[in-house]
Amino acid sequence: MFSKTKSTTLIASIFLAAFLAFFAVPFAQPAHAQVDGCEIFEEADYYMEICDDADGYYEYYEDDEGWYEYAEDIDGNVLFDDGGFWDDEDYFYDEDFADYDDEDYDPNEDGGYYDEGTEPADNYDDSDLANNSLGKTEATPGAQPWMVAQVDSRESNAYYGQGCGGSLIAPQWVLTAAHCLEDANASDIDYVIGRHVLSSNEGERIPAAQIILHPGYAQTGGEDHDIALVKLERPATAGTPIELVTPATTHLDEAGILARVTGWGQMGENDERYPDALFGVSIPLISQATCKAQLGDDAIQAGEICAGTPEGGKDSCYGDSGGPLTVPNADGTGEALAGVVSWGDECGAPNSAGVYTRVTEYVDWIAQNMR
Ligand code: ARG
Repeated sequence: MFSKTKSTTLIASIFLAAFLAFFAVPFAQPAHAQVDGCEIFEEADYYMEICDDADGYYEYYEDDEGWYEYAEDIDGNVLFDDGGFWDDEDYFYDEDFADYDDEDYDPNEDGGYYDEGTEPADNYDDSDLANNSLGKTEATPGAQPWMVAQVDSRESNAYYGQGCGGSLIAPQWVLTAAHCLEDANASDIDYVIGRHVLSSNEGERIPAAQIILHPGYAQTGGEDHDIALVKLERPATAGTPIELVTPATTHLDEAGILARVTGWGQMGENDERYPDALFGVSIPLISQATCKAQLGDDAIQAGEICAGTPEGGKDSCYGDSGGPLTVPNADGTGEALAGVVSWGDECGAPNSAGVYTRVTEYVDWIAQNMR
């Protein structure tokens, strides 16, 4: 959910998944070394390893459909909770584990299953990204100081760990999408604040201390109320919080106002290039009626606001989720937060707006929970 898939790894994974699905080769995943204090179950239809020793708890399971891995340190803190189960139908592959490489597995090193930051530097090359199907251009460094990156806490390089965006709305609070934090513990998440280029050390990186998902999110099966608050371990000193849109600006969408979305997400529906620098695109807000006409009456709820053009070509995309959709604030002195990147049908397609959580609907919930 948080780690970004690099295309080579993804392509390799798809081939492996397709191979497994077609030939049902059992246990084609990397074999795991026997570790002291482990119980090994080698059955006809599955393989399982459970290690419970002075270093903590480790569990590995695989069968011909996939594999699963989980580890805790001696204090019961989850080190990782991961797996790559493939679904025969659509070759689904869990992106969480795309960076996993068996060579990095070291059973003697507590939690040292990832070899961080060893990926080739040319993945950082942003030079051709201006050529994209979503109208994204590199943002002006520092011009959106509320923009934060949500990063997998296990990955020291934020370029590889980024999976979502977010907005600093108070020194110690980030507003993001609930779907960015599904099944996450606060210890899984860091936020990078005051940074333009993800792989740099600019700004600061602060662990999440508390995650508050909107209660309606789970109730609706993870479709509506896609909003979450995260309290940071300490107040940010880099970055500047953004004000929320005031209820008086609720009808901004009816006026076709130009909103702006920023993020480190991918460059097109089938264009899995991820920028190292922050990118953004300005997109007109559209009315609820137009949005419903495009995406379905039932799909669009009161808590959502849409942005897009009939001809397409201006949109956010995967990896931008949780990030800010901003509009000029009421007194014209800056920007206000109007939306949170939530979902869409196909990034940049004509008559298929991007859907954002409508911040005006949640100002009370935000105020009540921010303490
Ligand atoms: N759900 C996506 C994410 O997790 C965001 C998709 C936005 N799609 C769109 N067409 N605007 O990053």
